[in-house]
Amino acid sequence: MQAIIYREYGSADVLQLSDVSRPIPNADQVLINVYVTALNAADWRLMTGKPLPLRFMTGLFKPKQSMLGTDIAGIIEAVGRNVTQFKVGDAVLGNIWGSGASGLSQYICVPEHMLVLKPANVSFEQAAATPMAAVTALQGLRQGHIAAGQNVLIYGASGGAGTFAVQLAKHFGATVTAVASAAKHELMRSLGADQVLDYAKDDFASNGQRYDLILGVNGYRSIFSYKRSLTPKGRYVMLGGDMSQIFQALALGKLLSIGSTKQLSNLTAKTNQADLAKMSFLLANGDIKAVIDRSYPLAEAPAAMRYLQAGHAKGKILIKLHAEQAVEQRG
Ligand SMILES: NC(=O)c1ccc[n+]([C@@H]2O[C@H](COP(=O)([O-])OP(=O)(O)OC[C@H]3O[C@@H](n4cnc5c(N)ncnc54)[C@H](OP(=O)(O)O)[C@@H]3O)[C@@H](O)[C@H]2O)c1
Repeated sequence: MQAIIYREYGSADVLQLSDVSRPIPNADQVLINVYVTALNAADWRLMTGKPLPLRFMTGLFKPKQSMLGTDIAGIIEAVGRNVTQFKVGDAVLGNIWGSGASGLSQYICVPEHMLVLKPANVSFEQAAATPMAAVTALQGLRQGHIAAGQNVLIYGASGGAGTFAVQLAKHFGATVTAVASAAKHELMRSLGADQVLDYAKDDFASNGQRYDLILGVNGYRSIFSYKRSLTPKGRYVMLGGDMSQIFQALALGKLLSIGSTKQLSNLTAKTNQADLAKMSFLLANGDIKAVIDRSYPLAEAPAAMRYLQAGHAKGKILIKLHAEQAVEQRG
């Protein structure tokens, strides 16, 4: 089978299309024929080995494993003897982070708890694009105590996680302000945003608006601006963004929450079957959809990674591991 392998940290030039042997599932695993894989920001961080502390987990001088492509959708080809939830032929989606497998491989073996059944009316593309981005958005909104009627600001709303966050906040009944570049305002409105602000010229922190919940998804605004813009019992949850945004939330979030009715925190998303199933249900119901920017064949994974790393994706970037026709025939 073919897979993308990288043996050193660096730019997308380190990614190599290689022939490797097909894995064999152990008793607790399923073998998946991967149709579509979605990339996430975590993938280019694994590829570059930056920020450097990441390397304590992934290998100090060179990557211990090729583990790119966390979000997958495909068909189960074999099951281990202890597998109870799935059978051969089931179409599934999942987040395989931590399994040791790479979604940039035509076949993978992963434990069943990382997967849920793909609804028949959801395409493999939609299914693969959803797991990490949607579950992160869901858990961020939940950590921020999302509730109907709230005024919610989503900063950096036009990428993978942000496009789901806008839709989920609307689904929960909030009034949503999305901060994105002007070129993406139409997309933001189409996803349900009630107001849109341009991060290049509109300053949410000085327009007098106050928000019950702010999700910091991408870009950078000072944690003090976020705090100032919260309602008295408001919550700021940092999902990601520039290193300065991440660092401030980690270093100052708890400190600035002490003695304040406002709460500032960061999220470490932890995927689980229940949240994945929830997102899958909302997809099938048409309550949310994945915004797909571009799709690339496996051999062009380096180009896909370069595009994602440039930081301006409009939703999700996909890798298709088989010819289009083969995927369409399987539904
Ligand atoms: N906490 C967790 O557990 C967790 C889990 C998953 C992801 N994350 C993190 O969440 C962050 C977002 O992930 P993602 O998948 O949404 O990333 P992404 O898809 O790469 O985000 C790209 C989007 O960010 C926008 N953007 C770029 N610079 C911006 C700026 N200065 N201000 C506002 N928007 C800006 C871009 O819009 P323009 O092109 O218009 O600039 C683009 O649409 C990443 O840092 C990722 O590492 C965290």
